[in-house]
Amino acid sequence: MAVRIIGTGSSLPGNIVDNRALSRFVDTSDEWIRERTGIGERHISTGETVVSLSAEACERALENAGRDAGEVELLLVATCSPERNIPCAACQVQSRIGAGKAVAFDLNAACSGFLFALHTACAYVEAGMYANALVAGGEVLSKLVDWTDRGTCILFGDGAGAVYVEKADRGGILGYVQHSDGARGNVLTCDTRGLKNPYADFSLETAYIQMDGREVFSFAMRTVPAGILEVLEKTRIPKEDIDLFLLHQANQRIIDGIARRLNVDPGRFPSNVSRVGNMSSASIPVLLDELNRKGALKEGMKLALSGFGAGLTYGACVMEW
Ligand code: UT7
Repeated sequence: MAVRIIGTGSSLPGNIVDNRALSRFVDTSDEWIRERTGIGERHISTGETVVSLSAEACERALENAGRDAGEVELLLVATCSPERNIPCAACQVQSRIGAGKAVAFDLNAACSGFLFALHTACAYVEAGMYANALVAGGEVLSKLVDWTDRGTCILFGDGAGAVYVEKADRGGILGYVQHSDGARGNVLTCDTRGLKNPYADFSLETAYIQMDGREVFSFAMRTVPAGILEVLEKTRIPKEDIDLFLLHQANQRIIDGIARRLNVDPGRFPSNVSRVGNMSSASIPVLLDELNRKGALKEGMKLALSGFGAGLTYGACVMEW
């Protein structure tokens, strides 16, 4: 049995911040940011939350699919920046959109989160436990970023994307792989508030994203091509048959470097990172929605999706649209 994406949706905060605006608070320039990352601007929340953005993305995905929220059986939100520890974002989204029948929970695999959530939904549907799922990736990373750290604050943006999937007779998701390397997790971290109780005080003053950018860069350059080749081998699909490669939108240099390593025309790697920056788990579903809505995804096309990020984690899947 196949699992197929029937609808896509996305939502971005209205506030757009370009590189020149950032150079007012940190020592940076439009030239440096564009040259090292390809990013020109990003959307930054002025009040939108992971829940409000994810709920809007889910509603748009349902509308695009022509399905009703009341029919949804599984609702997953991938996020590493929820507003609340409890209840989970997915339960709050469920309540907002009226998906009362769905079982709802969150999944955190940072920038691989959407893909891991999509694979989770697939496994549930393939096992016959649920007939359909809404899968969202939503982030408000601007609250986890140290706005005095020029090495990180220039990279990230806020937003959410979602897909609605259903079991289908053919096509859809043809195979997936996922990996985690917790031993190297310290290269990209963000702590919580620390331990403070009557018996211990390890409270932390700051809880901002800390990153060894060069290590993450080389991790992506090694693992993303390997993950894509692994899923292609598993599904016995040659890379020449893949119409589009949709990667986590971390950095244009990484995307171009991966296209070179795979020896594939960079024109088959669509990108929106220049307009939205790195939105972690929201990157892939927002890109997918943009392509879907502009009619760039034709029935029968083969897509390879690949995510990587904190954990460290990475994964890939191949689907027939
Ligand atoms: O979802 C995964 C998330 N993470 C990533 O995708 C990160 C992957 N890594 C990268 O994309 C790159 O490592 C960065 C774009 C983050 C940094 O580029 P880099 O070429 O690795 O620069 P660097 O960190 O080695 O820094 C080079 C110089 C340093 O100055 P000195 O020590 O040579 O004087 C930095 O202080 O660039 C400086 N620098 C900046 N200069 C202007 C760092 N950030 C900035 C900035 N503006 N925003």
